[in-house]
Amino acid sequence: MNFLRMSEVDLRGKRVFIRADLNVPQNDVGVIMDDTRIRASIPAIEYALSQGAAVMVTSHLGRPVEGEFSPEDTLGPIALRIADLLGRKVPLISNWVEAGVKVNPGEVVMLENCRINLGEKKNDEVLAKKMATLCDVYVNDAFGTAHRAEATTHGIAKYAPISCAGPLMAAELDALGTAFQNPQRPLVAIVAGSKVSTKLTILKTLAEKVDQLIVGGGIANTFMMAMGLPIGKSLAEPDLLEQAREIMEIMAKRGAEVPIPTDVIVANEFSSQARANKVMATEVQSDDMILDIGPRTAAKLAMIISNAGTIVWNGPVGVFEIEQFGGGTKLLAAAIAHSPAFTIGGGGDTLAAINKYQITNQIDYISTGGGAFLEFLEGKSLPAVEILIQRATH
Ligand code: 3PG
Repeated sequence: MNFLRMSEVDLRGKRVFIRADLNVPQNDVGVIMDDTRIRASIPAIEYALSQGAAVMVTSHLGRPVEGEFSPEDTLGPIALRIADLLGRKVPLISNWVEAGVKVNPGEVVMLENCRINLGEKKNDEVLAKKMATLCDVYVNDAFGTAHRAEATTHGIAKYAPISCAGPLMAAELDALGTAFQNPQRPLVAIVAGSKVSTKLTILKTLAEKVDQLIVGGGIANTFMMAMGLPIGKSLAEPDLLEQAREIMEIMAKRGAEVPIPTDVIVANEFSSQARANKVMATEVQSDDMILDIGPRTAAKLAMIISNAGTIVWNGPVGVFEIEQFGGGTKLLAAAIAHSPAFTIGGGGDTLAAINKYQITNQIDYISTGGGAFLEFLEGKSLPAVEILIQRATH
């Protein structure tokens, strides 16, 4: 992808506006529950400071009502965490669009939650132009928000004197580009989740590209049903059988495959007390719920994974939060961790599984994007990236 990178821009003495994605989960009293996105945003800030720039950082947090500030919307706790990580003060500035920002070269300030500004969500031109006047260089390092065309992700990039991608944004796009533009084959995608309907576009897009499309969870149940297999009272979408067949046909025409489970783990209730039974896929009873793949299926998928050149993983294949239904996901996680392939993981549940099975260091790239990662897999263009490309080429 052709976009300008922060490392290619002279930042010395410049006012640098960094749009990060610091939208992290917090508990009721503002304690940060997972600071992955904050840590991932540090290199851009450190780099700008090391170059002698006057640095402003902002992000959205949650989905506040524009024009109405409530204490839970503040980036205060996040500024403190960044200050800890940088080992320096990070003052928090409110009302920064109207009052302007004073920051000296070699200093960094945090600009309060950008979604409080009227017009942010609608990508208002007047707001975007005002924000652009605050800086000499605009840096978008917010891959997690790249699927949103908002004033701090899109409009400002149009009007800032220079607009470029930060190191996190560039790393995400490089990793996803490696996986899809010129992948080492076989390219294997694992797409799992409760519903085909929420991932139908992703499944169709991937069906045109990948060599093996491993489906899991409720999605796999729908595919099993489309193959005429019994699924008892498992979660599935009977009205999408035709779409499931279509995906399998697209794959078959290309000599590619959607491996369907041959054995499964069932229970007759969805609970941590439920007894897990291992059955062949042809023997699922009417009161059974499929809650994981069986060992034969897991072994077959592990074999596919061990022969892959590239693996993109989105979604656990079973209810891994409950111990007796986590075997399939655990085995897959181990296979991915040990695979020589280039591996990418993304999406909330996937990150939880990666953490649970402690394979973080064995995955080549873990995306910080939730919705943005999924939209990339859907083949959609990401507006915040598009504008950076436009700025680099016009
Ligand atoms: C996310 O958490 O996926 C991003 O920060 C985007 O947040 P949004 O869905 O509120 O735009």
